[in-house]
Formats: sequence, structure tokens, C-alpha cells
Amino acid sequence: MKVAIIGMGSVGRGLIEMIATKDLGMIVTGIADSKSGIINEHGIDLQKALVRKKETGLCGDPKIKAMEVVTNAKYDVLVEVSPTNAETGEPAISYMKTAMQRKKHVVTSNKGPIALAYKKLISLAKKNGVELRHEATVAGAIPVFHTIEHGLAGNEIYAIYGILNGTCNYILTRMADEGLTYEQALLEAREMGYAEADPTYDVQGIDAAIKLVILANTVWGNGVTLDDVDRTGINLLTPDAIRLAEEEDCTIRLIAEADRRTDLLRVSPRIIRKNHPLVVNGTLNAITIVTDMARDITLIGRGAGSVETASAIIGDLLFIATCYDRRS
Ligand code: HSE
Repeated sequence: MKVAIIGMGSVGRGLIEMIATKDLGMIVTGIADSKSGIINEHGIDLQKALVRKKETGLCGDPKIKAMEVVTNAKYDVLVEVSPTNAETGEPAISYMKTAMQRKKHVVTSNKGPIALAYKKLISLAKKNGVELRHEATVAGAIPVFHTIEHGLAGNEIYAIYGILNGTCNYILTRMADEGLTYEQALLEAREMGYAEADPTYDVQGIDAAIKLVILANTVWGNGVTLDDVDRTGINLLTPDAIRLAEEEDCTIRLIAEADRRTDLLRVSPRIIRKNHPLVVNGTLNAITIVTDMARDITLIGRGAGSVETASAIIGDLLFIATCYDRRS
């Protein structure tokens, strides 16, 4: 299977490293970052591209732009992992549309375009007979969409709730366990590289709300937007609130909830018992899927990280390879 990759940040580099070191049956024929690009229909030397990126900040030739790679490279699947733009979704939306108009599949970890334009993008994919897959947009390595689509096929999905933002979970864990202030814990979370470029997206619950919108639209196709989410962040929580919860053998977690039965869409800090399955520590994410037959299923795992997110992307790529018999 031939793959072109747009974006060479932490996720793009993790993906390239995994394709270079594991025998996945993939050839990378195009790569672009924000300032350069490289096209080679016989397969790019990935280790060289990684070294070049590390040493010069560029993956290829500054004369080759990302759109040129999308338009001219020979590939079966476009992997779109450029930095997210939660306001317009661009330029990623244009890259995805162009690829699908060329009858190429698209796999992405990019939350902005999927939260803003899922309906249009998925109908373009259907019109062109290609796949648009976005497992990596929600909860990093956790295969939530694969689980719902395949493992829980035939179930009615009543509700989905859980911890969808690792940065907030880390801050809340550190405040409760080590008595750190909110500011100290946020600083640590930023240093670990989990937080968004603008961490207000994390602490005000926007990132979790974006993921909730993606979940609801993918699972129920109900066309909800960020404005439909009733949202409260963790930025105003005090150490006292956390201490009081601890005294009752409880803790505070930022919980995202979507319930099809009541049209509930909410992100808010909740007091929950410490032995509740959703009480995970550090940067972990946890998701409970409430169904008619299987009842409740809870998935726990890493919600961010370079190789962890690459795992979700590779799962989508190999799914496409299996369905369309496209292993090289
Ligand atoms: N900032 C996000 C988080 C990264 O902390 O969960 C993964 O989407």
C-alpha cells in the first residue's frame, strides 16, 4: 500500500518511525511538513527523511508544498496529521477533499476538520468510493471506533462517557496525589508535551468537547457541533474542592458525556468514587460505551503520544489494506 503523509510533527514522526521499523507492507511515496515536501513514487528513504527533519527542520525540498504532495504524489491513502485548526479546519480540510476527489482514502488524527466538517467529508468519501477513517482523533491509542464498529456491531449504542483529555486528568491527579497547585500541575503537563499548543483548549474542556462531538457524529450521525456541548473546564477548580472530595473517598475528574436517549452532551468536572472504572491516573484516557446487548464496556489507554497515536493510524491503514487488498 502506498501512503503519503502530510504533517511531520510528533505524530507524523512517530508514524514514519513505525513504518520504517515494522514490516507493515507500506511504502511512503510523499511527505510534507509546513515548509517543504518530498515525492518519490518508488518509496522515500524514511530514516534519511527523519534525520533531515531533525537536523534542518525540513523533511524535503522547500519548493515542494503540501498541496503538491496531495495532488501529485502516487498513493492509495493520504495520512493527514498536520497541526489541528479547531476554528476553520484548514488547510487540512482542503487536503482531505483533494485526496478524496482523486479517489484516494484518507486517514487522519486531525480533530479540527472531523469536528467541523465530518458530514461533508464523509459524504465526499462515499461519493468517491473511498474510506475516511479517524480513529486517532479521539483518545489516542484506544480503538474506540473500531470497537464500536466491529466488536460491538449490532449493538445499539445508548451512551458514551469518559475521560477524553489526558492533560486535565494529569492535572487533577497531581493536585489530588501530590497537593500541587493548578498552576504547578499545568506547567508539568505542558512540559510533558501532552497539552495543546494553546492549553486553554485542554483546561476549559474544549478539547474534550471536540472529541465528544466527533464521537456523537460518528456513532449517531446527529450533526452536533461544539456549541451543542454544555461545557465547564477544570480551570476554576480549587485544591479545597479536591481535598473535600478526597475526604469522602472520592475524586474529581473531567467527564465527557454523550447520551443518545436524552440528547445530553456535556463536559464537566464530576465528583466520582475512587473505585469507579473511569478513575484512571495521569495522562490516561478511559471511555465507557453503554449498549443494549453488551451492556457497559470500558476501554482504558493512552490518549496521546507520538507512537501511541501512530498505533491508531496504523490500525486504520491496515483496515483499509485488508478491505481493499492493498498491501505492497
Ligand atoms: N491535549 C490532548 C490531551 C492531546 O491532553 O488529551 C490528545 O488529543
